[in-house]
Order: sequence, then C-alpha cells, then structure tokens
Amino acid sequence: MTLGIGIIGAGPVTQAIHLPAIAGLSDRLRVAHVMDVDAATAAEVAARAGAAQSTTVEDLLADPAVDVVAVCSPHPFHAEQAQAACRAGKKAVLVEKPLATTLDEARAITEASRSSDVPIVVGAMHTHDPAWLAAERAWGDLPETAHRVRSRIVLPPNARFESVATQLHADPVFPAPSGGPAAAVRNAILGLAIHNLPLVRRFLPEIEQVGLVRALKPFGYLLTFQGGGRTAELVGYLHGGWREEWTFEVWGDDGELRLDFPPSYVRAGSATAELRTAEGTRVFGPYPDNGYTGEWRHLAALATGAEPVRYGMADVAADLAYALDLANRAADLELLQGATA
Ligand SMILES: NC(=O)c1ccc[n+]([C@@H]2O[C@H](COP(=O)([O-])OP(=O)(O)OC[C@H]3O[C@@H](n4cnc5c(N)ncnc54)[C@H](O)[C@@H]3O)[C@@H](O)[C@H]2O)c1
Repeated sequence: MTLGIGIIGAGPVTQAIHLPAIAGLSDRLRVAHVMDVDAATAAEVAARAGAAQSTTVEDLLADPAVDVVAVCSPHPFHAEQAQAACRAGKKAVLVEKPLATTLDEARAITEASRSSDVPIVVGAMHTHDPAWLAAERAWGDLPETAHRVRSRIVLPPNARFESVATQLHADPVFPAPSGGPAAAVRNAILGLAIHNLPLVRRFLPEIEQVGLVRALKPFGYLLTFQGGGRTAELVGYLHGGWREEWTFEVWGDDGELRLDFPPSYVRAGSATAELRTAEGTRVFGPYPDNGYTGEWRHLAALATGAEPVRYGMADVAADLAYALDLANRAADLELLQGATA
C-alpha cells in the first residue's frame, strides 16, 4: 500500500524538487492532495500529480487519503501548518527549511510533535544525503579533533535550475531586496547557508565569535567565525554565470573530510564524500539517491514505523537556533562595519 502525501504550498520547491523525488519512490509514496493559497497553482500542480486540490490547510488535513504532510509554503507559515498537521494526527510531517522563523515557534512545533507523537523531518536535505550518512559512520573522532571547517555554496541562480528541472506553473516572484547589507547577510544565511549549517554545527558546535562578514552581490555572504578553538569559513554566492560548487570540508588532527554535493535541482544522485586519514583515503558515493530522496525514504519509513527518527526535535531545533544566532551576529557585525566604513 502506498502512503498518500498532502503538500502544502505548491511553488518551485514542490514542482522542481519534491514531485520528481516522490515520483521516484512510487512503490511507497504518491501525492494525494495539493494545497496552495493560489487556486490556479493548486489546480495545475495537483493535475500533474493526479491528486486532489484545495486552497485551505483544513481541507487538506481533513482528506483521509493524506497520511504524510509536506509543509512547502513560505517560511512564516511553517510553524502554524506543522502544528496543525501534528494535531490532525498524520503519520509524519516534512517541514521545508527553515523549520521556523523564531525559537518560540520551534518550541511550539516541538511540543505539538511530542504531544501528538507525530514525527517531524526538516528539509535539510544534506543531512539525509547517503554520502553524508556513510561518512558519518566512518569518520571516527573527527568531530572532536576538527580544527577547521569550510563551506562553499557557489551556484547559478535557482531560477535557472528550476526551469531546467521542470516547467514551472508560474515564474517565481522574488521580493525586491530591502534593508541594506545587514539584512542581505541575514537573509542569505537563513536562505542559503542554512543548508550546510547543520553540517558545520556537527564540527563547530558553539559559536563564540564572528570575525569577518561581507554581503556579496547579487546574493550571498562571506564570513568567518570561531568557537572552541575551531574556525569556520563560509561562502555562499548566487552569481550570474554557470559554474557551480557546493562543498563542505573539515580538517582535523588526524583526518580530513570533503563532500561535493550536486546542485539541488539536478537529480544527479548523492554527494561524493572523501575521508583521508593516515591509513588511506576512502570514498563514499556517489549513490543513486540524493538528499531529497533520502528525506522521502526516511519519511516513508517513519510513517510505517520501520525506522526510528534520524534527527530528534532537540537536534533540529538546535540547528535552527545556531542559524538564527549566526545570522543575527553576522548582521550586527555588518551593520557595525558599515557604520564605521
Ligand atoms: N530544501 C531546499 O532545497 C529548498 C529549496 C527551495 C525552497 N525551499 C523552501 O521551501 C519553501 C517554499 O519555497 P519555494 O521556492 O517553493 O517558494 P515560494 O515562496 O516561491 O512558493 C511557495 C508557494 O506557497 C504558496 N503559499 C503562499 N502562502 C501560503 C500559505 N499560507 N499556505 C500554503 N501555500 C502558500 C505560494 O502561492 C507559492 O505557490 C521555503 O520555506 C523555502 O525555504 C527549500
């Protein structure tokens, strides 16, 4: 029997990422219901998937064909909709990143998940990438001995990938940037860096001091920070060209780890992870599944009780706290540097 998925919010991430990922797991998952506040989007995307459609969360949650809910709406709605899915007693919930916009919201979601016993998965796809999971099983004491972390996300604009991955129902609308470089840094960290921050946190759990910060145009950030004697360098940059690089690297006393991730909208399998120690170099991947397929496999296994939760609510809430803390400190520093420049 396949599990029915109800999707809340049918924008680019649903159309270009989740529908193809779910279609690849048709032995266990099918899209049962698509909800969007825009009726034309709901109708068109539901028709593509052969699913029911609606324009309210209540209608979607009342549909008995919906076993698993995916919250793919804009950030400000994640908390309320995730809690409603828990209260409706669904079997599992995917919440696209970020889990929420504040720590209070994250606490409310945690409580809703706990009291309803409905597991929640956050769409931090790299934490579900099979190459990351394989490296984690092999990296030994690297989290304790790490001294330097580097994350680079250098990509052509999302819209270019979206139009290659699928035919979008409508062109996405990007709000005009507002608020100057400090706001630009904060938005870029919460929009882009957030994909790699759960990986960074694993090796640099406490942020003590943010060093350098720069907002990059047209969209991005360059920053360094420290904690526990470790240093992190982060670059995120959506540029106008074609070259892409999505890497995560760690250097420790006795080992090095490097992951090369494919861009999000390209179904090119998992990352490749390379782990070097004095004993030699081991390479994990690329495996056929990417992190999105990994998320959906995990959701299906959670919904049938076949697997325990991979990352508990305390862990995903700590990921959000880390991202918010970094975004706020980096924005403050950018503001300070701008004021004294
Ligand atoms: N994991 C990833 O790689 C990844 C990639 C892109 C986006 N995202 C996340 O997915 C979410 C959606 O992103 P998108 O690019 O599709 O964005 P979008 O904002 O362009 O589209 C969202 C869709 O939600 C609809 N919507 C608006 N308000 C709604 C509401 N209250 N309830 C239901 N639907 C509503 C809009 O009509 C639109 O169709 C964001 O939180 C974003 O951070 C994740």
